[in-house]
Amino acid sequence: MNILGGSVRDLCAWCAHVLVKVELRARPAFGGSCGENWHRGANRYNRLFGATNNYRLCVPAIIPMTHDEILSWLRQSDEARLADLWRSADDTRQKYVGGDVHLRGLIEISNYCIRLCGYCGLRAPNQSVQRYRMTFEEIVACVRQGEAIGYGTVVLQSGEDPGITADAMVHLIRFIKSETPLAVTLSLGERSEAELAQWREAGADRYLLRFETSNRQLYERIHPSRPGGPADRIELLRHLKTLGYEVGSGVMIGIPGQSYGDLARDIALFADLDLDMIGCGPYLAHPSTPLGDPNRPAIVPGEDQVPNSELMAYKVIALARLVCPRANIPSTTALATLNKQAGRELGLVRGANVVMPNLTPPQYRQLYEIYPDKACINETAEACHGCLAGRIHSIGRHVGSGRGDSPNYRRREE
Ligand code: 5AD
Ligand code: FES
Repeated sequence: MNILGGSVRDLCAWCAHVLVKVELRARPAFGGSCGENWHRGANRYNRLFGATNNYRLCVPAIIPMTHDEILSWLRQSDEARLADLWRSADDTRQKYVGGDVHLRGLIEISNYCIRLCGYCGLRAPNQSVQRYRMTFEEIVACVRQGEAIGYGTVVLQSGEDPGITADAMVHLIRFIKSETPLAVTLSLGERSEAELAQWREAGADRYLLRFETSNRQLYERIHPSRPGGPADRIELLRHLKTLGYEVGSGVMIGIPGQSYGDLARDIALFADLDLDMIGCGPYLAHPSTPLGDPNRPAIVPGEDQVPNSELMAYKVIALARLVCPRANIPSTTALATLNKQAGRELGLVRGANVVMPNLTPPQYRQLYEIYPDKACINETAEACHGCLAGRIHSIGRHVGSGRGDSPNYRRREE
């Protein structure tokens, strides 16, 4: 018998993990399935070995975690037990995604935003922000710089800015894809299905959209919907996957009103969505936002509120690695902001395998203030690269070459 109660027959013909015979509907909530891959896996298996009445679900050799187990790690304070968690996450990282640290050049192409997110300094009503939108030529110059430094990916990020038109993005994506070998990641907020399809068609490889919290009530409180109606980020993430994007999401850790139970459900949702990339960082209060008001009353009782601490950020990175072993997981700038000396390195030895150095021109970088005191705000692209490469070598790891696609995505598309 195996963990799902099925009988172990043999190894998966497709990814060499233990195969179990289970009903199609018996997909576990999280932690055990190949996500959408199991259809493909089953089909390939059936092609090779003949069709069976039951689908053969491939179960990766990871420890499925229950809600209570995740919760107890989130509340764990014993250092020796936590050392086990860090070790387990680091081993899992090494086994599934290897020792390379992939660098992604981040270009913050516009800080215009039409949304009213309660936590973000770029929210539309924040009049103290000087707004900018980079030109095609400025963006291409940054892309070229990233290519020269040796990055395999550029991430084009912005507020939710309708001034960035679908056609302008198509033009930009086509240019980058035809002139460089770079992978293109988009992080442009909630855009229409038609736009997302157009950009994919133009050659965009990946899309990042954090769902921020799986608690619907909290989400609606901190993320008012657009006049056009509610946008369901979780639905959008599923849609992005059907378009063939490599899909990334994540949450902020310690949002006011986020309970331990909420955060445990967020982590389970990473696995349920079968994410290819998972970015999580501590929530950092911005004084020009409603959530950043120090006199705002607490939403959940103190003992239930998740702290926006460095330790909690490491726990979430480690748990994300355990439930999604093949995902690319960055050690985030928000984490580096909390601990400028060693935050990035500690993230990398507790489950992360990606870092996103900033390529945005310095005059714009300071204006992209989603939270205050952001790390790397004053460094040039070259300085940031040199610093990060040094940090990666200092922990005995290597800078990855090439695009650094998510092994989770590669397996899904096989
Ligand atoms: N603190 C930490 N992270 C933030 N983000 C936005 N505002 C903040 C903040 N105040 C994160 C959100 C968003 C990503 C681009 O930045 O998770 O999805
Ligand atoms: Fe960017 Fe150090 S991490 S300058």
